[in-house]
Parts: sequence; structure tokens; C-alpha cells
Amino acid sequence: MEKANIDWSGIGFGYLPTAKRFVSNYKNGAWDDGVLTEDDKVVISECAGVIQYAQTCFEGLKAYTTEDGHIVCFRPDLNAERMLDSAARLEMPQFPKDRFIQAVVDVVAANEAYVPPYGTGATLYIRPVMFATSPVIGVKPAAEYQFRIFTTPVGPYFKGGIKPLTIRISDFDRAAPHGTGHIKAGLNYAMSLYAIVDAHNQGFDENMYLDAATRTKVEETGGANFIFVTKDGKVVTPKSNSILPSITRRSIMYVAKNILGLEAEEREVYKDELKDMAECGLCGTAAVISPVGKIVDHGTEICLPSGMNDMGPVTKKLYDTLTGIQMGRIEAPEGWIKVIK
Ligand code: PLP
Ligand code: COI
Repeated sequence: MEKANIDWSGIGFGYLPTAKRFVSNYKNGAWDDGVLTEDDKVVISECAGVIQYAQTCFEGLKAYTTEDGHIVCFRPDLNAERMLDSAARLEMPQFPKDRFIQAVVDVVAANEAYVPPYGTGATLYIRPVMFATSPVIGVKPAAEYQFRIFTTPVGPYFKGGIKPLTIRISDFDRAAPHGTGHIKAGLNYAMSLYAIVDAHNQGFDENMYLDAATRTKVEETGGANFIFVTKDGKVVTPKSNSILPSITRRSIMYVAKNILGLEAEEREVYKDELKDMAECGLCGTAAVISPVGKIVDHGTEICLPSGMNDMGPVTKKLYDTLTGIQMGRIEAPEGWIKVIK
């Protein structure tokens, strides 16, 4: 298969349309069989539920070319399950897990020319998305929906690649207690845009959100969870009901404990503890593991001992192991890798 003519090593995290996408529509209480189509346009009512009341949720995962030339994706079953949870919380119909996984496989296979070659640093980002297509004007769930999966080749989420980031503690909240922070609803991202534009204008790469109720505990960023390494070498990640349960984070915690033999703990992390941490990173499908070098709390700088040049040593081990599994250099735990070709 001849690859698309793309400068794979030079691309950032943007949208480059690929050949095919999967589309299935929900009507009269059932999903249709779905098709792979070249049509990247969506035509819906001006009064569609997604446009009026933001009834939409999405997922994000990646396909990789492995060292030995296969195309694989990473734990798509967990994305399928998380989308079931998102849909249920937003009063949307659930797209069955087995059909979700098959559609991921089909859409990646149909876009093989766009799966970046091994060793380029790029991957194929897969974006499943579901939205309300039929009209609603009173506030209620719509009757009809579309589930779509498109793909786009991507490079690093943060411009500097894996250079340590500078983040700030945000005065804005991302998610309310008992709200929608734990699902992948589009609305969570819409309301983070003001905060991220403001952070960028002030020279920061990202926002660290605190828990909205007490503003004492670390939650997550707009698009990634946190991992920390304590000075005695323990991997710690914040426990909260209002953050997205990151698949990358769950995988890292498993890798830390079961492959690297490290102590790893999910627990509440207080803002006051940040000054005592040895390493900090952002983790997610897009972020992979992006190291944080500095956290700014209203003018007070917390400089992580790992510094502004490189990842800390434990973060590096986690990064190498996780990406090694994804790219087929390290044997994956049972069920983590879905081989597409
Ligand atoms: N937190 C938020 C708010 C996200 O948008 C994402 C990205 O999906 C993550 C965390 C990381 O989740 P995952 O590792 O499943 O991609
Ligand atoms: C992902 O990592 O897949 C996300 O959805 C996060 C987003 C910031 C791109």
C-alpha cells in the first residue's frame, strides 16, 4: 500500500482529512448498519440537538505502525466502554461495544495510506463522535443521532515535542462535583476554551484545574490527566469523580506496578503537595506523556527537580515502556493491542 504524500515527521496535532470515515445513523430507536464513506460533510437541521443544546460526546484513540510493520490500535475496548458511559449520561443512545471496535478496525484499514510509518513520531488519531441530529427546541434529548468515526494523522500535541511544559493553576473550574467531568462530553471542552486561550496569552502551555468544591486538590488539564512521581519514587495520580478516567493513565499505572515494579497509587493529590513532587507529567492519547517542568500558582513558581530540559527518569521509563508497547517493541499485556493488519 502506497502511503499518502505527507511530511510525517513535520506534522503537528491538526486536522488533515483522510480517505474514508464510518457513519451510522440512529432513527426510530435503532442504529443502521453504517457505511464507510468519502463524504466528510454533515448536513443537519439548524435546530439539531447538537447545535442547540450541545448534545454530543466523543472519543480519541490512535493507530500505530509497529516496528515489524503491522498496524495496531491500543485498547479500543476501553474507548468503546467509556463512550457507552458518556452516551448514557447525556441521554443519547449507546453504540454497541463490538460494533464500535469493528468500526475502528474498518476505518483504520480503509485509511491505511494515512497511517504514519514506524519511526516518524506521527500516529493516526481516531476520533469517534456522536451527536444529536434531529430538531429539539424544548430542552430534551433528540430522537435521532449520528455516530461517526474519522481519522487524521497527527504529530505531537504540544509544539515543543517532549520538552517540559510550563503550566498554571487555573482560577477557572473545568467540572462541577456531580457534573459531567467524568465523561467525554463536548460541553466540557467548550467551556475550557476561554481558560486555555487565556493561559496561552499569559505564556502558559496548559491549565491545571483544581477541584471546584474546595480548590485544594489537583484534578486534570483540559485534555489530559496528571501523573506525579514523589521524591521516594512512587507514581501517584489524582483520584476524583470529576476527571476523565484516562485510558493512558490506567495503562501507565498498570505498567508502573506490574512491569516496572514501582509503587503506584491513585489518591487525592493536594495542591500543597506539589512543591514536594519530583516529577510531573500530563498523560492522554493526544498528550502521550508530556513532562511538566514548572507549575505557576499565582506568581509562585514550583520548579520540578526534573528541570526544563528533559523528562524526569521515572517519567522517561514510563514513557519508553508505554510507547514501546504501543509500537510493538515491548510485549503488551493480554488484550491491550488490537491488530488491524
Ligand atoms: N482528560 C481529558 C479531559 C481528556 O480530554 C483526555 C483525552 O482523551 C484525557 C484526560 C486522557 O484520556 P485518554 O488517556 O483516555 O486519552
Ligand atoms: C485525546 O487525548 O484523545 C483527547 O481527546 C484530548 C484532546 C485534547 C485532543
